[in-house]
Amino acid sequence: MNSLLLHESEAGVRMLTVHDLPDLREIIRHWKRQGNSIALVPTMGNLHGAHLSLLARAREIADRTVVSIFVNPIQFGKGEDYERYPSTLAEDSRKLSANGLDLLFAPDLTQLYPGGLDVDTRITVPELSDILCGRFRPGHFSGVATVVSKLFVNVEPDVALFGEKDYQQLLVIERMVKDLCIPVRVMGMPIVREADGLAMSSRNAYLSREERALAPVIYRTLQDAAGRLLRGEDNFPRVESDGMWALQQAGLRPEYFSVRRSADLGAPRPDDRRLSVLTAAWLGKARLIDNVQVERSASSG
Ligand code: PAJ
Repeated sequence: MNSLLLHESEAGVRMLTVHDLPDLREIIRHWKRQGNSIALVPTMGNLHGAHLSLLARAREIADRTVVSIFVNPIQFGKGEDYERYPSTLAEDSRKLSANGLDLLFAPDLTQLYPGGLDVDTRITVPELSDILCGRFRPGHFSGVATVVSKLFVNVEPDVALFGEKDYQQLLVIERMVKDLCIPVRVMGMPIVREADGLAMSSRNAYLSREERALAPVIYRTLQDAAGRLLRGEDNFPRVESDGMWALQQAGLRPEYFSVRRSADLGAPRPDDRRLSVLTAAWLGKARLIDNVQVERSASSG
């Protein structure tokens, strides 16, 4: 790694971009020697406002920020959208630089999977990975946990930021970090939405104009369910089936619409205070996920 580049990044002059692990490690080592704290925001690129809000928060809480862009093949199932996942590296890089990022890590496949994609060594967080999205995307969360652990080992961040839009993913990572004693603080960040309520997602780009107009029904339906829970309803199966029905009526193909305990996504009990309502639904070619968090006071039950 060119020391001039390191010097410039130190002065905050420009964003560094590296593609290889040795270069990444050298910069990290250098920053750590200087006593800098490091925040990591893992992404698959095609960046939108939610990714940038994670970066903004990262900049507030750490001396140096790293964003990774890597479309991780092993978290996609057969027939899913790995091949057509939007790749916009030049545009992403421009946005990150304009938003004050210090280091963009954009590895290719051989960096993170030197032995090819048939990786036998995997990180699996049991149970939590098999429910909700995991039921419909077998192996997905193991793919996520595996790639995120590779990033943690090489970036050695003090803190890593993840969005609550992927709430189950956030819990899987928190659990992995706890079980493997990885010294990183995992921070969950609130969902960022478009003006009409649709959660920002790279996959929104798959929607036709008509589908895009329909899509806010997902958030509205989640809010309806949340309102009922807040008013004390504890017939959870009824809240779930009404949510499924509302999404189907609107022309979506929901995979699940589920009320869970926020702490561990287990089945809720009437006296649970913190509940999540989570859904995954197909709209045209896009599989969209969203959730709302509900905090019930003692009196709402
Ligand atoms: P990606 O879908 O690119 O998302 C990167 C991060 O942005 C994740 O933490 C995700 O939860 C967050 N994010 C996306 N949309 C959001 C929204 N509307 N509001 C708040 N946060 C949002 O998630 C992944 O990539 C991958 O699975 C990854 C963790 C990088 C592993 O490959």
